[in-house]
Amino acid sequence: MRKKIVAGNWKMNTLPAEGVELAKGVVAGRGEVCSCVNFIVCPPFTHLAMVAEALKGSDVALGAQNCAAEAKGAYTGEVAASMIAALGCKYVILGHSERRQYYGETSATLNKKMEQAYANNLVPIYCVGENLEEREAGKHFDVVKAQIEEVVYNLTEEQFRNLVIAYEPVWAIGTGKTATADQAQEIHAYIRKVLADKFGTAAAECPILYGGSCKPSNAAEIFAKEDVDGGLIGGAALKAEDFLAIGKGFAK
Ligand code: PGA
Repeated sequence: MRKKIVAGNWKMNTLPAEGVELAKGVVAGRGEVCSCVNFIVCPPFTHLAMVAEALKGSDVALGAQNCAAEAKGAYTGEVAASMIAALGCKYVILGHSERRQYYGETSATLNKKMEQAYANNLVPIYCVGENLEEREAGKHFDVVKAQIEEVVYNLTEEQFRNLVIAYEPVWAIGTGKTATADQAQEIHAYIRKVLADKFGTAAAECPILYGGSCKPSNAAEIFAKEDVDGGLIGGAALKAEDFLAIGKGFAK
């Protein structure tokens, strides 16, 4: 049985005190959702220590939205994987499309970040996904295949067993446009096949999350699909009630 995961990517939102309130809201309502759902919250770096405190004693896990490609040293403004791990993070989002698009992250950078994540016992949530132009040109399969081959194929089997993938079509992020459940299933199944080509049966265990305008009203339909194991949630993760309601979308 694959893990069911609902992860909140807060992006650059909330002030620290607001983040703490949000985390407390998730902890408070968590009991209303099946304990089989693994909740993760990924606040900005500045809130990690305070949110870690707010999550104490609950099963809601902490993640960061990024980490540096280097271990430590003269890299002004960067935050090392060891630092976020020391604050209690279990997960780190890597390769989000906003980082690829606005901060020039390439597969070469992401290979180094993945290495840093594993060196610090963090589970990467590795994001893949095509933009609108690529989707319209029918290139979405090739795009996600390359994003997986160039990074995930470099992992050892042991590392791969500690990986979460998030499929996030760029055209669906923050736009209100969601991939249909069938579109999600089609590409999730394809991603699992690409993973199986390299890692064999271990691919059946890898959680693959859907992300892109996922909300309480569409989560259940998307999560009902065979190869969809949960969601990476942006906007709807900023309200504890909505975030938790998405977790209720698991009927399997
Ligand atoms: P969204 O963002 O849910 O606001 O579309 C998802 C993401 O980018 O992780």
